[in-house]
Amino acid sequence: KALIVDFGSQVTQLIARRVREAGVYCEIAPFQNAERAFADIRPKAVILSGGPSSVTEAGSPRAPQAIFDSGVPVLGICYGEQTMATQLGGEVEGGHHREFGRAEVTALEHSALFDGVWEKGGSFPVWMSHGDRVTKLPQGFHVIAASQNAPFAAIADEARRYYGVQFHLEVAHTPDGAKLLSNFVHKVAGLKADWTMAAFRQEAVAAIRHQVGDGRVLGGLSGGVDSAVAAVLIHEAIGERLTCVFVDHGLLRQGEAEEVVRLFRDHYNIPLHHVEAEELFLNALESVDDPETKRKTIGRLFIETFEAEAKKIAEDGRGAPQFLAQGTLYPDVIESVSFSGGPSVTIKSHHNVGGLPERMNMRLVEPLRELFKDEVRALGRELGLPEAFVGRHPFPGPGLAIRCPGVVTREKLAILRKADAVYLDEIRKAGLYDEIWQAFAALLPVRSVGVMGDGRTYDYVIALRAVTSSDGMTADFYPFDMGFLGRAATRIINEVKGVNRVVYDVTSKPPGTIEWE
Ligand code: XMP
Repeated sequence: KALIVDFGSQVTQLIARRVREAGVYCEIAPFQNAERAFADIRPKAVILSGGPSSVTEAGSPRAPQAIFDSGVPVLGICYGEQTMATQLGGEVEGGHHREFGRAEVTALEHSALFDGVWEKGGSFPVWMSHGDRVTKLPQGFHVIAASQNAPFAAIADEARRYYGVQFHLEVAHTPDGAKLLSNFVHKVAGLKADWTMAAFRQEAVAAIRHQVGDGRVLGGLSGGVDSAVAAVLIHEAIGERLTCVFVDHGLLRQGEAEEVVRLFRDHYNIPLHHVEAEELFLNALESVDDPETKRKTIGRLFIETFEAEAKKIAEDGRGAPQFLAQGTLYPDVIESVSFSGGPSVTIKSHHNVGGLPERMNMRLVEPLRELFKDEVRALGRELGLPEAFVGRHPFPGPGLAIRCPGVVTREKLAILRKADAVYLDEIRKAGLYDEIWQAFAALLPVRSVGVMGDGRTYDYVIALRAVTSSDGMTADFYPFDMGFLGRAATRIINEVKGVNRVVYDVTSKPPGTIEWE
């Protein structure tokens, strides 16, 4: 195992993903708890992340001394390099040249870190982002790479297996970064590449059996990847003692509900209660146009419907389920570094089953707690879920309701479903689906005038949205070429009755959000 000490960098999770892609299991601990995590995990390698502080400030964070005392190999990145240098007797100064963005480094020495990747004497592109820099090396260290503005761009004490890099090797803008990280965990620290989804599957099945004993588990299916993978895994572990509930709120996309039922009930043979609650939800939404009220109404009805169904299951004569399955992922579990602790504003109230386990007095089974989203997808493939299902874009809990600004009606939902299906079909045909984080159509609550044949039309406007993102927290609109947009617009207007105009949303997040409500 490896441990990543987080000093508050925006990209700490990327370090963890790169290490796991190299086949090595790792965990992230905020610097405040790093000492305890180091003792608990007993890692064979430690990586110190970047961060917003300056080691020259009084009270700035440090790595636990126990790490340096233990003799494990350490890699410091940016702030991590600077704190390591300071703690081992070197010096760091506030940078005279702040350096941000692309830079070239020259490899000055052979190093285990560069082995097979960077030749001595070669120059390589890296991504820099720092104000401070190391100015005096601790004893035992020497410079292994330099850039114009950072004479100590990479430093090493090969005997103690300590490495420091001023650049960010976890980001895609440092093209060889993943290989350097892989060198650190494999060649320097001697860790084996044994973190695979096949191995995880076996361990997870054993852990679920151990936790659940001969109890029963209730699982919610949303149509999304996480709940589906969790359900298939739990079913593999305990078979018929898993019962799933799928609350169909009538706000799903075209063909989605049928697909979930077919896949889980027919293909996997998982006992599935399909609750068709469209009437209930759409009636309750009949006069709601405020986005937050919409979200809260859907959230409340969802919980009520789920609980009512759980009650029926508890009375089916097989004993009440004691456990509730939840598709919690590692990013939900990681404790984050907080420097301010200030209040944060609720932009949107998120709809999920949060609060359910306490209300229902059930224990949680969360087999995906250690995994990142891309690992959940890999596990889904390992479990035989179809590629089209596993590779799906995220879909929000409140469904199409928040893609229909204003009052949601059955008529609008029917139009939106068709337009969305045509748009996604065009994206798939163009081979762009996997490049895009999320793509969907929204139906705007305005009508505009058009002309079709010889007649005047007065119909709805469809807005197309497509974004790239790595976690949904920030996003960029996807730069389609105009030819693609023209084709999608023409097909939607020709094939979907009720639409006579299509626009493309070119807002990034921030300042926009991904969904329209
Ligand atoms: P926003 O619109 O806030 O969305 O930029 C960020 C990401 O979150 C998804 N989203 C939700 N997911 N329940 C969910 O499970 C929700 O209530 C919800 N609201 C937004 C959204 O689709 C995007 O991927």
